[in-house]
Amino acid sequence: MKLILLGAPGAGKGTQAEVICKHLGIPAISTGNILREALKSGTEMGLKAKAFMDAGQLVPDEIVIGIIKDRLAEEDCKNGFILDGFPRTIPQAEALDASGVVIDRVIDIEVPDEKIVTRMSGRRVCEKCGSSYHLLYKKPAVEGVCTNCGGTLVQRKDDHPDTVKDRLRVYHEQTEPLKEYYEKQGKLHIVEGQEEVADTTALTLKALEA
Ligand code: AP5
Ligand code: ZN
Repeated sequence: MKLILLGAPGAGKGTQAEVICKHLGIPAISTGNILREALKSGTEMGLKAKAFMDAGQLVPDEIVIGIIKDRLAEEDCKNGFILDGFPRTIPQAEALDASGVVIDRVIDIEVPDEKIVTRMSGRRVCEKCGSSYHLLYKKPAVEGVCTNCGGTLVQRKDDHPDTVKDRLRVYHEQTEPLKEYYEKQGKLHIVEGQEEVADTTALTLKALEA
């Protein structure tokens, strides 16, 4: 299964990718996580991406297209993968199609903007392994500590409400047109994302069977 998860920032793409990749036994690939890792290790690519990410803007297409091409060429992607956060612009989707990768399904997780802003303010991420939590909806076993690795939980720089609003604007302008792009290919399935995490997972798995 070659799957794309579309949706606004904070719609729950990463949360769903984590569950569904285990269910299907395929890797989940998040361009956001790859870029944050590059930034943490201080690579040239990470440093180039930093200003865009902190401002809630998209990193230039050529950088993320290069990242995805390299990652999809790895052995563990042979039997399928979940893309979380890529493509995010029409040129990125066109580059993916032109690379010969045939996507099976595109799941769009829909959550209204108002709900996104409140949701993001409660997100906490592990500074060591990147696992994501929520102060209300996905609490770690011990407050402030990652259940997976014991790392410290912090707030992402781009989760400040003003930056979230900018990210939502960028999403509507540059990423939302992808819904039409994939609808024309007959691959788009829309899934409700504002209820419980498990409800969205169930709807997503059902859409994958269709
Ligand atoms: P990225 O890391 O991809 O961020 P994003 O798309 O903005 O998505 P998020 O990770 O914020 O949200 P999500 O949908 O995964 O939600 P999550 O599951 O965490 O990208 C960051 C930046 O990198 C971009 O701004 C850009 O600069 C750059 N970038 C990345 N890819 C790029 C690309 N292709 N091109 C160009 N630039 C790129 O959930 C959010 C919170 O809500 C969590 O706390 C979670 O626990 C909680 N939650 C989830 N589901 C529910 C639910 N059902 N009910 C209650 N709470 C829930
Ligand atoms: Zn961790």
